Amino acid sequence: MKKDFLSILDIDECELESIVADAVRLKRLKSAGTAHEFLRGRSLGMIFEKASTRTRVSFEVGMSDLGGHALFLNPQDMQLGRGEEIRDTARVLARYVDAVMIRAYSHAAIEEFARYADVPVVNGLSDRLHPCQVLADIMTLSERFGDLHGLKLAWVGDGNNVCNSWILSAALTGMEVAVASPPRYRPKDEIVDQARAAGGKVTVVADPEEAVRDADVLYTDIWVSMGDEQERAERLQALKGYTIDSRLLARASPDALVMHCLPAHRGEEITDEVMEGPQSIVWDQAENRLHAQKALLVRLIAGGMTSTE
Ligand code: CP
Ligand code: NVA
Repeated sequence: MKKDFLSILDIDECELESIVADAVRLKRLKSAGTAHEFLRGRSLGMIFEKASTRTRVSFEVGMSDLGGHALFLNPQDMQLGRGEEIRDTARVLARYVDAVMIRAYSHAAIEEFARYADVPVVNGLSDRLHPCQVLADIMTLSERFGDLHGLKLAWVGDGNNVCNSWILSAALTGMEVAVASPPRYRPKDEIVDQARAAGGKVTVVADPEEAVRDADVLYTDIWVSMGDEQERAERLQALKGYTIDSRLLARASPDALVMHCLPAHRGEEITDEVMEGPQSIVWDQAENRLHAQKALLVRLIAGGMTSTE
């Protein structure tokens, strides 16, 4: 049975632990310059309907590090862009490549692709979720804190795809996720309900100061996600007051860490001072996309790492 990674809840706590451990090992192997070609001769198809810097480069370099190959596929250059159906494209690509990563506007389209493809499908971001980001974030926090159980992460701003994946991860990590969003941009109730049903501790409030109280981690993301561009003016208006600045940071636990999945709009969701400040770990997060996704691919395509050194 092939396994997909469309949501962070597609893996259990045990698998999460093992992927993070493998990612840390792969990071060490890369920095030592030791070959780690666990996917020699394997190929990853990467379909990007939307722009990307980190996801595209980290998956492509990751496959190259692992001895495999990644193909960047722009739907506009494929027959998909001329109306070929997802279910047909999925079955054909699965005959050529060992896994497919898709970044798409519609989460349902990624699910449809995964239903028809006989190879593992990875969600590289949809309107609903961004599980690869949260996988790398969890690795990043594990490097800092070790055990994550009982820590509190405060999400400040738009209740978007990255926020949704953080909410869903609450049960897996044992972290409390406290979201502060203006009413119109709260995460969807069904996501919160799903997280709580899985045992996650999740709260949603309007007041950022309430959410960040005693928080060990503050997280934010851009206020206008890809696909939301027409709502820019309303969003900037509604999200005023949800900036992570030094005043808000001072209300969290002393030495709280600040995260952002990037790209950032300094002066909107985060100030330049906080992003460049000593509590920011945004560059580690970005780097860990590479290591975490490599570990994920090795697991999905080859069943895991065969050697531990
Ligand atoms: N964080 C993230 O997914 O970045 P990209 O949009 O650059 O891939
Ligand atoms: N929420 C953002 C994340 C970008 C990585 C978006 O969907 O555009």
